[in-house]
Amino acid sequence: MRNKLKQAWLILLIILIYIPNTKADEGMWLPMLIGKNYEQMKKQGFKLTPEDLYSVNKASLKDAIVSFGGFCTGEIVSKNGLIFTNHHCGYDAAASNSTPQNNILDSGFYAKSNAEEKPIPGLFVRFLVRMADVTPQVSEAIKGLPFEKRAAKVAEITRTLIGDATQGTNLEAEVKDIFKANQYLLFIYERYSDIRLVGIPPQSIGKFGGDTDNWEWPRHTGDFSIFRVYAGADNKPAQYAANNKPYTPKKFLPVSIKGVKNGDFAMVYGFPGRTDRYLTSYGVKVATDLANPTIVKLRDIRLKAWKEEMDKDVATRLKLSSEYANIANYWKYYIGQTEQLKRHKIYEEKQKQEAEFTKWAANKPEYANLFSDYEKAYKTYEPYVIQNVYAGFNGLLAVNWVDNANTFATAINNLQTKKDDQAYVANVKQETSATLDAYELTYNETADKKIFAQILTSFYNDVPKSQHPKFITLIAENYWANSPEATFKKYADYLWDKSVLITPVKLRQFMANPNKEVLEKDPGYLYAKNVLPSEYAKANFGTIITDYAAQRAKLDNLYLKALMEKNPNAAIYPDANSTMRISYGQIQNYSPKDGMTYNIQTNIDGMVAKYQPGDDEFDLPKSLLDAYAKKDFREYGVNGTLPVNFISNNDITGGNSGSPVINGNGELIGLAFDGNWEAMSGDIAFDKNYKRTISVDTRFVLWCIDVLGGAKNIINELDIRRDTPPKLSIKDKMIMKK
Ligand code: ARG
Repeated sequence: MRNKLKQAWLILLIILIYIPNTKADEGMWLPMLIGKNYEQMKKQGFKLTPEDLYSVNKASLKDAIVSFGGFCTGEIVSKNGLIFTNHHCGYDAAASNSTPQNNILDSGFYAKSNAEEKPIPGLFVRFLVRMADVTPQVSEAIKGLPFEKRAAKVAEITRTLIGDATQGTNLEAEVKDIFKANQYLLFIYERYSDIRLVGIPPQSIGKFGGDTDNWEWPRHTGDFSIFRVYAGADNKPAQYAANNKPYTPKKFLPVSIKGVKNGDFAMVYGFPGRTDRYLTSYGVKVATDLANPTIVKLRDIRLKAWKEEMDKDVATRLKLSSEYANIANYWKYYIGQTEQLKRHKIYEEKQKQEAEFTKWAANKPEYANLFSDYEKAYKTYEPYVIQNVYAGFNGLLAVNWVDNANTFATAINNLQTKKDDQAYVANVKQETSATLDAYELTYNETADKKIFAQILTSFYNDVPKSQHPKFITLIAENYWANSPEATFKKYADYLWDKSVLITPVKLRQFMANPNKEVLEKDPGYLYAKNVLPSEYAKANFGTIITDYAAQRAKLDNLYLKALMEKNPNAAIYPDANSTMRISYGQIQNYSPKDGMTYNIQTNIDGMVAKYQPGDDEFDLPKSLLDAYAKKDFREYGVNGTLPVNFISNNDITGGNSGSPVINGNGELIGLAFDGNWEAMSGDIAFDKNYKRTISVDTRFVLWCIDVLGGAKNIINELDIRRDTPPKLSIKDKMIMKK
């Protein structure tokens, strides 16, 4: 009986939560269910049908949107598989194709023919074939099980569902939960892995403003790059082959150069990565007071050490700059998130909501203790938050050899026990060689050694002594040299000298002929095995962190269930989870503070005003300055200037980078690439007044390709939509003839 009720309730829930009744700038909606938002979209200026957005029966907009490499979004803009995405999404592809002699990262690059395009090994795109609600199947499988016992069953039914969906095809699938495991969705994808770089502006344009302007408006960044999907002769996915053909898409986006104005309909279609909109006040406090400041401090150590090296020569800069940009991006993100969570008083806001919730839940036994249970869970977790950040990839695992040492140790062990399995041995050898290559790409002796010692020093100083792991205490005792700093430096010198697992030369020699006895005595390995996450947790956290995580999952699941029960008519959308979403709203200006308003658009005049010759972040190429001096804006200009970036109130997050911004007619008007400083708390709490998406205007993109890059071949591939001259009536024509 209870289960029947539960099922009926779930179905009702699915229906109810998709009836939006708020203004929908907030919300990352599932394309499959977008029909429920349609009336509102239409009212705001959207002119296509729900079927044009998402359909499994005919080509729809979803077929023109790809998950780009798993970390960004891209859109197909020609019948020959041309993709637009962000410069920062193509950064690594450009950096890895650059040398000091042929430096396309700095000088830019536009292929003038297909033959000039650059294959990017490892890069892929995924098209969403379809999605389906599999909540009924999953609910059936976990029927009657307490929350703790569900994971194994969910994994089992997931395997079956994926198997059924992909059997006998070249497709791949995944099941993802939404609303904190209150609902389950199946996503089926087709992956293409012959992706080639077609064009990218010089980084002085593509990353103009650097980390100073990053996450801020007003902005002047040409954050775009161009790729192409290749397929086999049958248009199906194929491994790279020189004679693969440009992919023929089901659908591609026309490109509008008609421009945007305040209040215009704007929609972002892409793959947002992660939001945490249902985080409790306890979680907010942990972020602002403990986790974020620690992450920022640890990233700062890495950034300073790398920058010093990158400033020494071009080769080092090219080697480290892609990874540097990634570290810097989220370094500033966490600074901004902390600042804005405090400024918008999100902790106090959430506390109020929670007090109100608790009042509502008072006579509901299932939910009455929810927040006192949250409080208990956080009480045991909080003392370990800082150490937990140190234990991860921001901290003790930040220097790559440490993680590698553990990977290699496992491989060496397996090589010995499975030495007769030739296929296995060959596979391990290949993986080892790939890991070594990747390691060498960002290895920098001076910086790595410094970072290693500084992170240990900072661990020693920041983590309460009572929590110090035994291996840290032992290092401090055995290598003591007046101060923690000198001590860990001395220890680093010793490791770099004596271990075969750190410098690439010694490591390659060792891995060419690995030996378990040597490994087990290696001082690098003796250190690294303490930091292996499972070992570290066992020795230092016991079950504290895992118990907390399990309890959090259970409470979050219950909280979401309760929230939906409490507000049955509210438009609730699921947190981002790297699945395809639509966010719609308007081009919209905003007031960052009392007494001032930010415009919706920036122009090239503002870009040139920021120009600082030779600067790391604000230099500009001569081609741009020359064209600017001549006001050579062609059909992309308007009122004697050239638009660069614009803002809209769409709800996006990391992973949306490169997403198309689409107007009411289904045309591409820009590429979303960033958020604004005043709303850096947005992943945790959406603020309608402040939250904006920053995009690069298609007119600027096309101007760069056409006027600066001289790549007419690319322009000619696009379906460009211009303002049509007004239709003349017969009367007008008669007047003109006179
Ligand atoms: N903030 C942008 C995003 O996360 C990335 C910008 C990259 N640029 C940089 N200066 N690190 O989507």
